[in-house]
Amino acid sequence: MKSSEVPTDQPKQQTTPERHDVDRHADRYAVRTGGMKASEIRALFSVVSRPEVVSLAGGMPNLNALPLDSLSTQMAELVAQDGLTALQYGSAQGVPQLRERICEIMGLEGITANPDDVVVTVGSQMGLDMLTRLFCDPGDVILAEGPSYVGALGSFASYQAEVAHVSMDDQGLVPEELRSTLRRLHNQGRRVKFLYTIPNFHNPAGVTLAAERRPEILRICREHDVLVVEDNPYGLLAFDGQTYPSLRAADPDNVVYLGSFSKTFAAGLRVGWVLAPSAVREKLVLAAESATLCPPTLTQHMVSKYLDTHDWQGQIKTFRENYRERRDAIVSALDQYMPAGCSWTYPDGGFYVWLTVPEGVDAKAMLPRAVDAHVAYAPGTGFYADGGGHQQMRLSYCYPTPERLQEGVRRLAGVIQSELDDS
Ligand SMILES: Cc1ncc(COP(=O)(O)O)c(C=O)c1O
Repeated sequence: MKSSEVPTDQPKQQTTPERHDVDRHADRYAVRTGGMKASEIRALFSVVSRPEVVSLAGGMPNLNALPLDSLSTQMAELVAQDGLTALQYGSAQGVPQLRERICEIMGLEGITANPDDVVVTVGSQMGLDMLTRLFCDPGDVILAEGPSYVGALGSFASYQAEVAHVSMDDQGLVPEELRSTLRRLHNQGRRVKFLYTIPNFHNPAGVTLAAERRPEILRICREHDVLVVEDNPYGLLAFDGQTYPSLRAADPDNVVYLGSFSKTFAAGLRVGWVLAPSAVREKLVLAAESATLCPPTLTQHMVSKYLDTHDWQGQIKTFRENYRERRDAIVSALDQYMPAGCSWTYPDGGFYVWLTVPEGVDAKAMLPRAVDAHVAYAPGTGFYADGGGHQQMRLSYCYPTPERLQEGVRRLAGVIQSELDDS
């Protein structure tokens, strides 16, 4: 489908009729299921898929630039030529030739990696889930930026880990805040298991951790004996093509790195990876085995073949250009339309702008009125584990056309202005 034919901002989702049956199993669920809840963003899908609504809510990668014809030929060849391997069970750690290619990719960010220390996962989401399973007992504390990635918060909650948010500014995580949070938790006798951080083009905040803060953050974590989990799915999507010094490259023994092909190739293949110190990697392989036996062999071979046969770096450049055009469109629309008192971040890569509305406007309560005005966004509350984010929202610019982005922001600004007029 050509981009001009894309009728909506989101794929159509099947809506199931609401069921009101009594849950006969209610008293059987494990205690940890109490922390599981539907993501606020996923709950919006059925609304935002209506064609009249400009959705700034979901974070769908824009796949229009993918070479679908050659990918389908490649897939057919893969099954015809290597089907007996590609359709068979594989290693729990992942297909060896893919792990080698993954090491080359991490080399672009200055990371020296050995394929033996890479574990292929079903998206980096599975990596996050396994790490939490490995490290967290109920009541353990995970540090995460405030706001943080909603999927990570979901995993943390499902293992009954508690999240302590550490503030960010335009330069990313604030080292002094990290230090004081660790001191406070230490004084309370709390056990901090790891710092979860998204250093580049943060989801949802859109900011990037300043290079000079990186060694300091690593030093603080070392001093407090806290492991670092570096989640970097957007790292190669800098609009000027630059890469940032990876935390893993600077401290390989104390940083676990999460990578993904979801934003640089195809999210639907569900191929991600974890690079971990050897001892952690061994435990991860055991956890992966118990979760899935092995990650899907077919999609790993697909990614591996794509990397061998396509100009994948050229493809990433094309993605970057598409996203940069959209970033420019949304930022210029924000400049043009947003009422006084609103502020927003300026992303140098990735998919997201984080918008703060003036006091007196509650972004979550305002959403139904925005949808009535045919624009949707992700309220900030979904990105905090502690009830914060009422004055914030995430605007995703990755999927709509620049014209739709412009129109969506114009509508949103009108809704915010009328809230201000009424307050
Ligand atoms: C920061 C972050 N981490 C992890 C993920 C999960 O990605 P994957 O598709 O590789 O599971 C996402 C997806 O949006 C993300 O934004």
